[in-house]
Amino acid sequence: MAETREGRDPITMEKRFTMMEHGSSPVANGHYPPVTAPMPPMAGPHPSIATPIIQALDVVKVFDTGKVKVPALRGVSFAVGRGEMVAIMGPSGSGKTTLLNCLAGLEAIDAGQIIVDGTDIATMNDKTKTEYRARHMGFVFQFYNLLPVLSAVENVELPLVVSGVNTKEARERAMRVLELVRLTEWAAHKPAELSGGQRQRVTIARALVNEPAIVWADEPTGDLDSETADEIISLMQDLNTRHDQTFVIVTHDAGVGARCQRIIKMRDGQIIDDGLGHIADPRSFSGDGQARPIVQQ
Ligand SMILES: Nc1ncnc2c1ncn2[C@@H]1O[C@H](COP(=O)(O)OP(=O)(O)O)[C@@H](O)[C@H]1O
Ligand SMILES: [Mg+2]
Repeated sequence: MAETREGRDPITMEKRFTMMEHGSSPVANGHYPPVTAPMPPMAGPHPSIATPIIQALDVVKVFDTGKVKVPALRGVSFAVGRGEMVAIMGPSGSGKTTLLNCLAGLEAIDAGQIIVDGTDIATMNDKTKTEYRARHMGFVFQFYNLLPVLSAVENVELPLVVSGVNTKEARERAMRVLELVRLTEWAAHKPAELSGGQRQRVTIARALVNEPAIVWADEPTGDLDSETADEIISLMQDLNTRHDQTFVIVTHDAGVGARCQRIIKMRDGQIIDDGLGHIADPRSFSGDGQARPIVQQ
């Protein structure tokens, strides 16, 4: 865990407000810049400002496919406090997955800054970034699939084995986390022998085995029935409270959003509501809420 650098260039309320107010994207796309409502009075600073673990400053990401440019993130600024559990919600195509990938350093950004635990991730080389991720981040992503040939416990211990933990300790820690997600009896079973909910719990166990400071989840309940989805979110809430781990959860499920401490709403590659009283003017967004491709000349 990198040392906490509270007080090192903290985003003040004023600075934050200015960023939101003037945080229009440099991409020339004919949209209005976002306009924010005045700050409502707040009782003391929100943890996202007092002790941010994640800060995005005017982040721009444009996918260039050759024929079209897709401005997936158009000047995104916000912060997540240490130990917060936030939901990111918005229509399909509004840039949620892109934002998670950029925040986790899986995807390079075109402008702006991402600061994780006091370090600008652009200053890290690939090796440092990979190591940082392995040590401090957990992923509950659809494409981070479980390996079908490995048992549940082998899948869970994989991040530990990869980061050089000896096999005995790795197995013990993996079993402890499997117990946490109530899968002890299923440890020796392969993913194909587990239900969807059980598989997702293995994925969560694998994301948590390193006790990461930050857990990124992209539609973690997407394929689950509502009862199982509820269980998964309860588990995340529990871990968040007990271990002070930060959870950033992309979801289109309003029920999941309601169980997080804060909802950040996206539209058109921008944040329209950061859940702290900053609400953008809806005139700055297109009708369907999706990032609009720009056809190259
Ligand atoms: N690799 C990519 N190449 C080109 N366009 C992409 C790529 N990934 C995402 N996009 C586009 O960026 C926009 C935002 O996508 P995404 O972040 O996946 O949205 P969400 O997760 O909110 O559904 C969409 O218009 C999508 O088509
Ligand atoms: Mg997505």
